[in-house]
Amino acid sequence: MLPNKIESAFNEQIRAELQSAYLYLAMAADCDKQSLPGCASWLRSQWEEEIAHAMRFYNFIIDRDGTVELKALDAPEVSFGSPLAVFERALENERQVTASINNLYQLVQKEGDFASQPLLDWFVTEQVEEEATVGQIVDDLRRVGDQGEGLYLLDKELGRRREGGSEGE
Ligand code: FEO
Repeated sequence: MLPNKIESAFNEQIRAELQSAYLYLAMAADCDKQSLPGCASWLRSQWEEEIAHAMRFYNFIIDRDGTVELKALDAPEVSFGSPLAVFERALENERQVTASINNLYQLVQKEGDFASQPLLDWFVTEQVEEEATVGQIVDDLRRVGDQGEGLYLLDKELGRRREGGSEGE
């Protein structure tokens, strides 16, 4: 049985992951509009990954005999600015997600709910990877100056994520 406080916090995390998915999809649409198909493709992969993250909490709540309660999402922005601004926003989003996972970790420890720890251990590790990956793209965009031939090549490289298909989940 899942303690009420934890059930409620995990339901809120489902919302946060789906909100994150929604944000990535909005960013993908903006990049598609800017004729950056590689960036858009990378962001759509991230959209799918965030839905998979939400489903980890969903399945865990069900496995612990809890109740999944879906909450309303906010509409994301339509325009995010330059590709660098898009990925800076993505990095800020990942840092917020990391903070929410850390809060969940503190809660399950305080409540002594050891069964939730392996789930959160996975997310702690995942967030290190997420921040590092997005942070690298931000660094690359700063290096190429966010335009011209460098951006063209980086966009092509980001488009290869789907072909590789092995990042995260
Ligand atoms: Fe589900 Fe990108 O954090």
